[in-house]
Amino acid sequence: MARFLHMLIMLSSLALIISVLPLASASLKVDFYKTTCPSAEAIVKRAVNKAVSLNPGIAAGLIRMHFHDCFVRGCDGSVLLESTQGNPSEREHPANNPSLRGFEVIDEAKAEIEAECPHTVSCADILAFAARDSSNKVGGINYVVPAGRRDGRVSNRDEASQLPRPTFNTQQLISNFEQKGLSADEMVTLSGAHSIGVSHCSSFSDRLYSFNATFPQDPSMDTKFATSLKSKCPPRSDNTVELDASSPNRLDNNYYTMLNNHRGLLTSDQTLLTSPSTRPMVLTNAKHGSTWARKFAKAMVHMGSIEVLTGSQGEIRTRCSVVN
Ligand code: HEM
Ligand SMILES: *[C@@H]1O[C@H](CO)[C@@H](O)[C@H](O)[C@H]1NC(C)=O
Repeated sequence: MARFLHMLIMLSSLALIISVLPLASASLKVDFYKTTCPSAEAIVKRAVNKAVSLNPGIAAGLIRMHFHDCFVRGCDGSVLLESTQGNPSEREHPANNPSLRGFEVIDEAKAEIEAECPHTVSCADILAFAARDSSNKVGGINYVVPAGRRDGRVSNRDEASQLPRPTFNTQQLISNFEQKGLSADEMVTLSGAHSIGVSHCSSFSDRLYSFNATFPQDPSMDTKFATSLKSKCPPRSDNTVELDASSPNRLDNNYYTMLNNHRGLLTSDQTLLTSPSTRPMVLTNAKHGSTWARKFAKAMVHMGSIEVLTGSQGEIRTRCSVVN
């Protein structure tokens, strides 16, 4: 009986170890392509710098694309896949279509890398490098990116509904990020990415015209700001508006000052100040720019490790928009 119990305990602890293994991301490594494709990161950097010099909005697009990749099936390049017959991909979800941008930069970097070292560098890693290079180019935020991600073979439109919505309140945002293993502080820190780029009017027009039964306009929004947004977003238009109009192409902590001035564009932005649980984080980030930048880099690396495929899982795609 004792022997049997002993065996049972051994077996179940083995099962525990095995079941925990796929969650560990310890297998991503800095300089992963050092010997197999030494120029990979330089090629990505060159492609990103070129594209962002021509259009700074591309930096915003690439940082957001990495986020949208990681939150759906982990950072596996699934967001890059085009739809196939009968299977609309993540790219077709309203959270991505028509707003996600920068695909051509990933495709260009991938083509150059394939020419140099075929079948070696994953699209998921290229996207992670590109998000870092974008942060560096428009925010001076640099960090090393552990790599070794493999590309997934599945992308479903409907799974992108796991992405947080712009109408979420703080509690919903915290629990959404928690489901991906990210803390409330990381959520607030990463939301600072909204100091660059644009949003379509449809992502926040409820705050201008149909807030609730008592207030047509969101009372947590500065009234002058609301008036200027209404002129840029007349009812039923779907123009784009800068997320941080004071420095739309500079990734910095000005986003938090903006929230403090009740000029957050999305409900999911302004709620971070309104909610007592995140308000202190917003105020701290507004005050300490270099601390925020360090936390941003760290949180990007953590986000980049969500549910990654490694080793012999998945594949190395030849083209980022189609499975092999
Ligand atoms: C906290 C939850 C978040 C919500 C609800 C959210 C939602 C949105 C929405 C609705 C837009 C505008 C899309 C459009 O209408 O065109 C947007 C843009 C953007 N988001 Fe987020 N986001 C969140 C977190 C993040 C994170 C974590 C990052 C990256 C670290 C990020 C990076 C960006 C960037 C850079 C843009 C501008 C994109 C461009 O100009 O092409 N967002 N986000
Ligand atoms: C409308 O929103 C305000 C501000 O958030 C809130 O105080 C009020 O209770 C809401 N009214 C209704 C009818 O939901």
